[in-house]
Amino acid sequence: MVKPSVLVTRRWPAAVEQQLASDYEVVLNRSDKPLSPRELREAFAKYDAVLPTVTDRIGAEALDVPQAQTRILANYGVGYSHIDVETARHHGMAITNTPDVLSDCTADLTMTLMLMVARRAGEGERELRAGQWDGWCPTHLVGTKVSGKTLGIIGFGRIGQEVARRAHFGFGMKIVVFNRSPVDAEVLARFDAVQVSEVDTLLPECDFVSLHCPGGVETRRLINARRLDLMKPDAFLINTARGEVVDEAALAQSLMFETIGGAALDVFEREPAIHPMLAQCTRNLVMLPHLGSATREARAAMGFRVLDNLRDFFDGNEPRDRVA
Ligand code: DGY
Repeated sequence: MVKPSVLVTRRWPAAVEQQLASDYEVVLNRSDKPLSPRELREAFAKYDAVLPTVTDRIGAEALDVPQAQTRILANYGVGYSHIDVETARHHGMAITNTPDVLSDCTADLTMTLMLMVARRAGEGERELRAGQWDGWCPTHLVGTKVSGKTLGIIGFGRIGQEVARRAHFGFGMKIVVFNRSPVDAEVLARFDAVQVSEVDTLLPECDFVSLHCPGGVETRRLINARRLDLMKPDAFLINTARGEVVDEAALAQSLMFETIGGAALDVFEREPAIHPMLAQCTRNLVMLPHLGSATREARAAMGFRVLDNLRDFFDGNEPRDRVA
């Protein structure tokens, strides 16, 4: 039987690449360089499946092919706002993602960011490594207590709920939730959480606000200058969702004028470029290079989840993670 042809757009964990190579007629991206729109167009004309990830811009330009050979975009990652779903659907392409398997690790990283920014961990490490630490004193690098504070979670899907679990049971935090659809009462009760119907209601109540909604047009710049002004003057914003959810220039202004306590970001609108105004914020901004799912365990599980989706698809079954 002829094996389906599959193109992988970036390097993946070795065990997953090996499994792909044994199951499919696979082309791996050994150079690990992101594909250009032209290379993506060539791939869509040639391969039965393309396995993209967050660094691939699969918009109208990349999908501008007269006739696509590709029948499935099996995305490596849970977020898929980098894919123009309508155009892909128009070409008859199915789209799958990799939920669940990265929720724990992304939630762990959210807590890392929350603690880093509140307890000034980045500043402290930079000072120490620069040989500028003069020793302990009562007023040195005094931060903000995290335990017992109120955490607002925007987007209460799998990752948002894992953050709530850690914050509530680990740090005794009170949880306030905004989600576009009503959250099951039983799920809210698990974390003693309260759901509010407006983002504007959540923001002034919280000491920490953590974003866990999908990216895309509906949430683009959800956190803008007006909403940043609704936050408490000492509150912190955490973003492990998508860069475009935050107006980065407005956030940089809030940080520069100290109208909020600080922010911690793992994602950026134009990755890997950092908005020049954000780059200037050192004291009250922590930034990490999109590490949410970056553990050996999660990255391998994401790859095997793509394999599950591919197998279902080519066996003629509905892939478990089909999103379009
Ligand atoms: C995702 O899965 O969408 C992350 O941003 C990358 O792990």
